Amino acid sequence: MSRRPPAGLAAVRAARVPDSRRLRVGVIGLGSGCTHIDGWRQHPNVDVVALADADADRLDVAGERFDVATCYTCAETMLDIERFDVISLCTPNRFHKALAIAALEAGCHVLCEKPMALGATEAREMLAAARRNGRRLMVNFPCRFSAQSRALKAQVDAGLFGDFYFGRSVWHRRRGLPDGSRALADLGVHRLDLALWLMGHPRPTWVLGSTHEPTAGGGWAGDVGDLATALIRFDNGATLVLEASRATHIGEAELMETRLFGTRAGLLQKNLDGGPRCEAQIFLEQAGTPCDLHLRPAAPEAPSAMYEFAEAILNERPHPAPGEEGLVVMEILDAICQSARSGEPVRFAA
Ligand SMILES: NC(=O)c1ccc[n+]([C@@H]2O[C@H](COP(=O)([O-])OP(=O)(O)OC[C@H]3O[C@@H](n4cnc5c(N)ncnc54)[C@H](O)[C@@H]3O)[C@@H](O)[C@H]2O)c1
Repeated sequence: MSRRPPAGLAAVRAARVPDSRRLRVGVIGLGSGCTHIDGWRQHPNVDVVALADADADRLDVAGERFDVATCYTCAETMLDIERFDVISLCTPNRFHKALAIAALEAGCHVLCEKPMALGATEAREMLAAARRNGRRLMVNFPCRFSAQSRALKAQVDAGLFGDFYFGRSVWHRRRGLPDGSRALADLGVHRLDLALWLMGHPRPTWVLGSTHEPTAGGGWAGDVGDLATALIRFDNGATLVLEASRATHIGEAELMETRLFGTRAGLLQKNLDGGPRCEAQIFLEQAGTPCDLHLRPAAPEAPSAMYEFAEAILNERPHPAPGEEGLVVMEILDAICQSARSGEPVRFAA
């Protein structure tokens, strides 16, 4: 399936900068993939040149909306025919591994939606394919890319907090959609990655996990369930509590919170009024007096993960949220599920 580009627009795009300095991007999966297209379009040297989605109607709507003429209902066919620098992979999780490997084998860098795979074994296969082909693999963890998260991270890197020794990272939803994925893989990964990133990625040594399964109906009409909780211990002695659920009896529509205790100061990033907007606070003591600071980032908007990936590729710099960090998230998720099944802590190999 393919539509012709408006000739004028194609000519204007081609004239802006030499092709050799532009990235050709393809997007697979046009639910969250539409957000990727917006993100790629923040960058002046990126062209989203083709789209793929198994759903022809969705493909048509996205093709029209974003004025992308080259559209495929089969992602593999698109990878065979078109030439890309980067693929944005936004299909349901169960397709990530096969399509990421196909894209990497076709010589593309890959920006993969979270969670990067169904488990750590798949994630390792994806990383092996990236290494084999000398291509990049990045995971889209959008919580890292807000102006506020970046401002917090800048304070962490400046040493304001000292060493983090405890954290609690949470995403609870009052009523979620029963779409087949689990709260841990859907919501928990965001808060886990954010905490690991702010903590400087200490190495996990053991995990104690517990889950509560839905009793019936997948989380509707007062049916609580799909809760995961975990205590994660790291090699530097720090511990992190992780909680995620998609149908539970709380006052907020959404409760997102990441709290970290450091030896010099503590931080809290928390959503406001059950919505997506977050506030960030820093707690410390100055001259014996407790001080609460509200963090207000200078820039209201921050460039997207897509923009950052493009910058890294074009400037030959390391990219953020590399697949290796996505793999650690998958290893922790696997360990939580294993521990929940066995009722025992799961130790990581030294
Ligand atoms: N980073 C975020 O904040 C965020 C938000 C939402 C979803 N996601 C992630 O994005 C991914 C997709 O989630 P979604 O909510 O957009 O799902 P979705 O179901 O809305 O969209 C997925 C699309 O992929 C298409 N598709 C499925 N299999 C395909 C295949 N083999 N080839 C081509 N197209 C295929 C479907 O037709 C559908 O249009 C998941 O991994 C999810 O975890 C991330």
